[in-house]
Amino acid sequence: MKHLVSPSLLASDFLNLGREVKMINSSVADWIHLDIMDGVFVPNISFGFPVLEHVREVAQKPLDVHLMITDPDRYITRFCESGAGILTVQYEACTHLQRTVTEIRNHGAKAGVAVNPHTPVILLKNILPYVDMVLIMTVNPGFGGQAFISESYGKIRELRAIIDSGGHNVMIQADGGIDTTNAAQLVEAGVDVLVAGSSIFSSENPLLTIRNLKEFA
Ligand code: DX5
Ligand code: ZN
Repeated sequence: MKHLVSPSLLASDFLNLGREVKMINSSVADWIHLDIMDGVFVPNISFGFPVLEHVREVAQKPLDVHLMITDPDRYITRFCESGAGILTVQYEACTHLQRTVTEIRNHGAKAGVAVNPHTPVILLKNILPYVDMVLIMTVNPGFGGQAFISESYGKIRELRAIIDSGGHNVMIQADGGIDTTNAAQLVEAGVDVLVAGSSIFSSENPLLTIRNLKEFA
């Protein structure tokens, strides 16, 4: 499958959020990535349900919601009802991960599990039958604009091999420090979904940057 691009609104102009979402609507992007941070799991607070619900009113692409919150089970129903098409929880924040991702699927959303840079992908082996996507964090979560961790390439290759050898139908998403200089190498390593924030919204022409992330040779 051709890889997908999911622009992260965290780096967008919050004073003009509607305009930013419409820009994504008119682009070749596939999804819209929303980063939910609770100030506990990560040292930053972003936005929550009211913003998500307003974005949903304008968005014409699936909402790819990345929860960087502790004990996400408390909010699975609410996020699904607020419009999440893909809902991703952090491996490190879930005590009963199989229960959590099953609940996400039971609400009709795709279930994702994210791993921090220090978490080995082999730990995901037994959850793969229950998820639609694994998110490899290529920075430590919490902030946009950080430098890409290059050890991620090896991790992605390793996960790709585990997924393929098990015959699982699971996408790999990469998130953090992604731009037009590393996108092709990430896809070559096995990534299906590229998330990018700063590289899109800080560029002179976000529509063109999205196109370049989507359509490199
Ligand atoms: C980081 C978030 C990312 C962030 C990526 O914790 O999960 O989605 O928005 O931003 P960039 O692309 O600027 O690294
Ligand atoms: Zn994210």
